[in-house]
Order: sequence, then structure tokens, then C-alpha cells
Amino acid sequence: MNNIQKTLSIIKPDAVERNLTEEIKSIFKKNGFEIIGEKKIKISKEEAEKFYIVHQSKPFYEDLCNYLSSGPIFVMILSKENAVLANRKLMGATNPEDAKEGTIRKKYGLSIDKNSVHGSDSEENAKKEIDFFFSS
Ligand code: CDP
Ligand code: MG
Repeated sequence: MNNIQKTLSIIKPDAVERNLTEEIKSIFKKNGFEIIGEKKIKISKEEAEKFYIVHQSKPFYEDLCNYLSSGPIFVMILSKENAVLANRKLMGATNPEDAKEGTIRKKYGLSIDKNSVHGSDSEENAKKEIDFFFSS
């Protein structure tokens, strides 16, 4: 059954800063993702707070929003069969220490907060997150 989906991926400040953008993009392409939208941006603290609003009540919310707005990020719309889940698998666990061999977070993640990439966790959130960054 054909289920081509779109999902939102963000290369976070720690990875953009280390010039890993092209390397990470090539991993997505090698794994069959098509990059159908992309841009390098820097967001404000307020925008980061809006983007991560689901985590509002978490103890790490403040640090997370400061971090995501601390430097340039690279946002992408990825497309592939079952893209949402496929991207989550390719990213690996939230904490790079728990991420499996061959995942992006295992390879590049520095810590649970500086874990190099974001990926939408459901098709519904993927739509919201794509709209957040790509509806002008
Ligand atoms: O990014 P992912 O969906 O895997 O994890 P999340 O639970 O949605 O959390 C969002 C982000 O918050 C993570 O990617 C981490 O960067 C950060 N986080 C953190 O700093 N400390 C935690 N204990 C949990 C998450
Ligand atoms: Mg999440």
C-alpha cells in the first residue's frame, strides 16, 4: 500500500554549527527521503516557545526554547513512504546515549538536549510543523 507522507525535520543549532548540514541531508537522501522544502533560518525565543508548546509544562521547556533559538537551524520537509515513522527511526532515541548504531543521533548527538535533529512524531503534528515553518 502506498502511503507517501511528509514530515518536518530540523537540523538543530549544535549540528548546523559543526557544519553537518550537508552530511545529514545526504543521509536522508541515501535513505530514500526526498527533500521537498528546505531553508536555513534563525528563530526567536518566542517562535521556539510556540513550536515546542506541547512541552510547555516540562522542566526542560525553558532550556529547550533558549537552545533552539540560540543559533541557525536548517528546516526541511521530507517526503517518503511512511516518512514520519521512517524519520523517527533514522533519527534514533531522544537521548543519543540510547540511540541505536546507524542513527543520526547516535552518530552526531552530543547530549539529550544537543541531539542534532528534530522530527515530527505523528502525521498530524507533521502537518502543523510544516505549516509552522513553510506557510508564508
Ligand atoms: O525530539 P524528540 O521527539 O525525540 O523528544 P521530545 O520528548 O519531543 O523532546 C523534545 C526535545 O526536548 C528533545 O529532542 C530534546 O532536545 C529535549 N529534551 C531535553 O532537553 N531533556 C529531556 N529530558 C527531554 C527532552
Ligand atoms: Mg518530540
